[in-house]
Amino acid sequence: MTKETFLDLGFQPIANGFLKEGETDNEFFFPLEVALDEDTFLVTQKEYVSPEKMFNDTYAYRGSMSKTMVEHFKNISMTLGAYLDPNPKVLEIGSNDGVFIKNWGTETTYAVEPCGNFAKETNDLGYKTYSRFWNKDLSNDIVAEVGTMDLVFAANCMCHIPDLEETFGAVANVLDKEGLFVFEDPSLAKMINLNSYDQIYDEHAHIFSVLALKNELEKVGMRIIRVDELSVHGGSNRIWAVHQDSSWVENSSVSQALSFERLLGLDMLEVYDRFSTRVAQSKLDLQTLLWSCKDNGHKVISYGATSKSTTIFNYCDIDSELIDYIVDTTPEKQGKLSPGTHIPITKPLGLIEDDINYCFLGAWNFMDEISKKESAFLERGGRFITHVPIVRFV
Ligand code: TYD
Repeated sequence: MTKETFLDLGFQPIANGFLKEGETDNEFFFPLEVALDEDTFLVTQKEYVSPEKMFNDTYAYRGSMSKTMVEHFKNISMTLGAYLDPNPKVLEIGSNDGVFIKNWGTETTYAVEPCGNFAKETNDLGYKTYSRFWNKDLSNDIVAEVGTMDLVFAANCMCHIPDLEETFGAVANVLDKEGLFVFEDPSLAKMINLNSYDQIYDEHAHIFSVLALKNELEKVGMRIIRVDELSVHGGSNRIWAVHQDSSWVENSSVSQALSFERLLGLDMLEVYDRFSTRVAQSKLDLQTLLWSCKDNGHKVISYGATSKSTTIFNYCDIDSELIDYIVDTTPEKQGKLSPGTHIPITKPLGLIEDDINYCFLGAWNFMDEISKKESAFLERGGRFITHVPIVRFV
């Protein structure tokens, strides 16, 4: 693998490593550099953080915290159900709090979730959940215990795992010969177009293009038959893949996605170098805008204690001097401090408070949902701030 580094986001903490008061002294930081593999066009971190540091029994991210995502997983479950025979055997890798599997019956649905807190929740709901990291050993154990799967699903999980040959090989192993492997992750094309460099953090070992996934899946005897462009998570791709020798027919979305990515130049290092220049400019612009709010006597808060905002705040040196506090609906994050920058996180007390005029959108990907909820803030002249695709008041 020839990895060419094109972006340096400095030292970063664990993106979901929310801290209690008194826990800030020995915080773990790592150098976050991003590279292009010029053989496969995979965009990947130069060095990976050990999975155990990120995914453990105190993992804080809950998939079901937004209505948008609950609806999203309900819809895709209905769509997939229509492609499968009745009572399909379904496996979800990275089942989190069960936001996807809750749409399927408990009898033949299985889950893999290394974070013990969430594995317990879904086990308690009746879904057999393997609280282990996904790899070939686990896939062998699952085949031995319950057989092969008609559907393997994963959302925002495949891009978390450093070794893709092992990961996809394990999927090929557990998937029935006519089975479907459907997975969704943030789209590299969207990230480049939106300058949303905050998609890059410890957990996102890779940011996938369809170009790279085609190469990685072919290594394990699989092929892509369909690509859906999704709006969730700031722009994602849902990939439908099958065994090379299955009877599934590829539809035109695959060649369309591949030619679009070639047009964008996702197979060329220069494109990534230009992206890196835009990222550096975005940092300066955001710092300037936030300081001007502060210098004019305004309080600024942030909406959503996201992994994405961990990258932004640490890369742009934004701490509690610039952001007074972050609001977030996730109980596991409330009362804690943001990773690296130690900004307090609070429970939203109804609407954004009256003394706040400016609010950075840490969860810019939920802009519509948040704007609806906070219409009173906007009506009284409050303004949201975002950095996508350029730093601006919304
Ligand atoms: P997400 O964008 O999925 O985060 P990540 O970058 O970590 O993948 O998470 C959105 C976060 O914002 C999540 O912690 C829940 C929170 N949130 C609110 O607090 N209020 C809201 O109205 C919405 C939609 C999300």
